[in-house]
Amino acid sequence: MSEEPTSFSADSYFATQPAPPTLEHDIAGVKEFVARQAKEGRNVVLVTSGGTTVPLELNVVRFLDNFSAGTRGATSAEYFLKAGYAVIFMHRQFSLQPFSRHYSHSTNPFLDFLEIEGSKSGTATPPAISVTHAMRKDLVEVLTAYKSVHAAGTLHTLTFVTVNDYLWLLRALSQELSVLKRKAMYYLAAAVSDFFLPRQKMSEHKIQSGKGSLHIEMDQVPKILKPMVDVWTRGDGFIVSFKLETDEQLLVPKARAALERYGHQVVVGNDLHRRKFEVVFVSRKPLPPLPPGVTVNPIGEETTSSFAESWLRIDIPTSPIVHTNQVKEIEEDIVAELVRRHERWIQGR
Ligand code: PMT
Repeated sequence: MSEEPTSFSADSYFATQPAPPTLEHDIAGVKEFVARQAKEGRNVVLVTSGGTTVPLELNVVRFLDNFSAGTRGATSAEYFLKAGYAVIFMHRQFSLQPFSRHYSHSTNPFLDFLEIEGSKSGTATPPAISVTHAMRKDLVEVLTAYKSVHAAGTLHTLTFVTVNDYLWLLRALSQELSVLKRKAMYYLAAAVSDFFLPRQKMSEHKIQSGKGSLHIEMDQVPKILKPMVDVWTRGDGFIVSFKLETDEQLLVPKARAALERYGHQVVVGNDLHRRKFEVVFVSRKPLPPLPPGVTVNPIGEETTSSFAESWLRIDIPTSPIVHTNQVKEIEEDIVAELVRRHERWIQGR
């Protein structure tokens, strides 16, 4: 399967890799959602969440995947909704989702706290179901928030599976959201594959095992943050990317390099093992105000390389995490900080 790797730009990627069949339908739904939120004057955040797969065959039997469960994205989406944002939640199919996350993929499966009440014999009516007393307070809280978000129509959910689905959706959604100008935030918490197999190099059928070891040379997924910042969002969106590392020493330098290269607003750095308790916000330092009568030299501005870092830490629980709504989640503070910064961005500061 080994062939010369191709270097894809964002343009050549979209010119050669097929759009997912549901794209047009997804765009129509987002268009309607964005128009409604614009009319109601809400800020909108696009939250990406979960990992992407990289299929190895056209009739896909095998694929590469990554660790992301979508906790960061699903949890953050809830806090954005609480802060009054409308949320487009673009997530990996079957990864965690806002609200239902409290009871799915967890050690807290909902069937364990439902009880069947005594049925009256001889009636056709099925017995009633109740929630165990200990779980009632948490469930009422989650259910109330869920119902009120649905009544307000402020959550729109879309799914992707492959890295190709992700890229097409991200481009289309960014373009749709760009009509909101500065009122749109992009919160890119998904863990996106850096490598993929272009369609043209994929085996049509299941790769056979009879030939011994398997060698696959993958191509690099194009860096899409640059066109996202400059073209798709027309330079107006408040873009927050994430940087995940396993060597903590690399976090800040890599985050700075991303800001330098792509020119967006914030990188949230997180270490794989400490990501639930510690993150770092990296952004450009605001330029000092210019003295009266002095105009901006665009070249000087672009080459500014001073960054500000601020660390956010919460206590590490000393006992195993008991799943209840009372446990502090770092996403609450991440979202509060970004909402504050987004407000300044909207006001042009
Ligand atoms: O889901 P959890 O288990 O809670 O884990 C959360 C998380 C650790 C996955 C999340 O907090 C996180 O760090 N996500 C980004 C992972 C990462 O390192 O991404 P990256 O360095 O490959 O990409 C940098 C940024 O660009 C990311 O915001 C990514 O979403 C975005 N990106 C990257 C490549 C690409 N082709 N498209 C993108 O949008």
